Amino acid sequence: MASLQSSCTVLGTTAPKPRIPPTSAKPSRHLLPNARRSHHRFHVSCSGGPGEEGKVDRRNMLLGLGGMYGAANLVSYTKVAGAAPLLPPEFKSCGVAYVGDDPLDVNCCPPTSDVIKDYKLPPVHRLRVRRAAHRLNQANVAKYKRAVKMMRDLDVSDPTDPRGFSQQANIHCAYCNGAHDQVGHEGLDIQVHFSWLFFPFHRWYLYFYERIMADLLKDPTFALPFWNWDHPKGMQLPGIFDEEDSPLYDPNRNQDRRPPAILNLALNSTIIDPAQIISNNLSLMYGEMIGTPASATDFMGKAYRDGDAPPTYPDGGTSEKGSHTGVHAWFGDPRNEYSEDIGNFYSAGRDPAFYSHHANVDRMWTIWNDIPADYPKAITDPDYLDASFMFYDETKQLVRVKVADCFNHKKMGYDYESVDIPWVRSKPPKKAAAANIQDLSKGVKTAEKLFPLKLKKITRVLVPKPTVGKANEVLVLENIVTDNRKLIKFDVFVNDEDDKPEEVDRAEYAGGFTQLPHRVKAKNSKSDLRLNLKNLYENINIADDDSVVVTIVPLINGEAVTIGGIKIVEAPSA
Ligand code: C2O
Repeated sequence: MASLQSSCTVLGTTAPKPRIPPTSAKPSRHLLPNARRSHHRFHVSCSGGPGEEGKVDRRNMLLGLGGMYGAANLVSYTKVAGAAPLLPPEFKSCGVAYVGDDPLDVNCCPPTSDVIKDYKLPPVHRLRVRRAAHRLNQANVAKYKRAVKMMRDLDVSDPTDPRGFSQQANIHCAYCNGAHDQVGHEGLDIQVHFSWLFFPFHRWYLYFYERIMADLLKDPTFALPFWNWDHPKGMQLPGIFDEEDSPLYDPNRNQDRRPPAILNLALNSTIIDPAQIISNNLSLMYGEMIGTPASATDFMGKAYRDGDAPPTYPDGGTSEKGSHTGVHAWFGDPRNEYSEDIGNFYSAGRDPAFYSHHANVDRMWTIWNDIPADYPKAITDPDYLDASFMFYDETKQLVRVKVADCFNHKKMGYDYESVDIPWVRSKPPKKAAAANIQDLSKGVKTAEKLFPLKLKKITRVLVPKPTVGKANEVLVLENIVTDNRKLIKFDVFVNDEDDKPEEVDRAEYAGGFTQLPHRVKAKNSKSDLRLNLKNLYENINIADDDSVVVTIVPLINGEAVTIGGIKIVEAPSA
């Protein structure tokens, strides 16, 4: 650091105000180790004259230059790259949480601490084994109940204990509903959903949650059970969460969906045939894990860096947007304004089933990693690897963790019981013959006539293709405007002659859009939904046509959605 400073020009005495929130007393000291990781993206420009005063970058202020600010001096730097990894939140400047732009009457700010440690994974002596919740033995269930009971007791004996049940639930709220601004970007929320941070954040979150439980139980072998919703035997709320006098119970759930009701990942309640629901579920799983992603970010979620506006639903990966959101939406309680508990991120952590849901989401990440694919699985962008979060560990120590340290779950000390994975065999059957586009497009209007489209009813639209027939193309639904306070679901099919929108286990199903009531700084959000078509074209056996008929099927609150436009574009080269 010293050489960094001494080699640079020190400018006059009128330094612009650092944009670090005023409540953070000692930001440079707290954030120093993080800056050490991020500064490789930048270099120091020592030629900077007074004219470059405004270019001072917050990250460089964090390189231990706090003292210089104290002396009202300023060093000029020029940023080389366009971005940096997301920094962990400054707990001291936590604010109110929101849904849409409605402030919530909840305070989900974590306790503050002056001592922050960089977390080092402890050595692993024996792996904890996370087991399927529907297969747990009595002893394991009893242990799990006891752990949750102890966390709930902490809520009462010391509501500020970060290991308490409510404090743990609040972590999710604070990271998802706008309580934390990005450090140095006032008014810009931290959002850990809808991007490549989704899997790493939740892995770390569960990691500490599990360690807190194990520590309270004084049982280092304790492991969270996973909700095996990707297997027909796990496609209902596990019974352990449905006993009303149990610490694992939460009354804020959709009462119609208590066991033995079958989980319907398609969120289409017009389907009642259990065989069809299960077939839909397995086919959706196949699609999001194998059929649809054509790149690591397709599966993981798109890039999200320091200073970026919070991402929105369509930016998430296939698994997050699909089964993950489906489970949240299916069990959220419609009696509550915003689908609380599990149907809204701010309240999801109040439902013990949420942690087992996310254990399975995490398990999906481990499985995807092992599935052979024709694209590289690893994301090596330093803005991904170096992104970091803050949690309390089982000793109540505030720790900073980084994304790159959570890639190997065994090094983190846990593994999953191995169970059958039926959806790997659930590719939708290939159509024997191509649809006849002449017949199919009779009376179907073009996008110019229909868009912008208020999604009040099932809509068919004729969309031109850049290349005839089979090609590597992407369907883009542009500028989707939704009311962020609403649960929303619609589905998309291509060249669908059968007209059975309740069957998503068919080759013509292109994907869907699901949104939970959530926070994106504003009531409405605008976003693009991109659906890969390459495998779909193969599977529908598309003829050498120069256009397709797209069917958009509103399922939940279609009237709260407007789609700005629709087009097919060539897939970006990998
Ligand atoms: Cu952070 Cu499933 O939500």
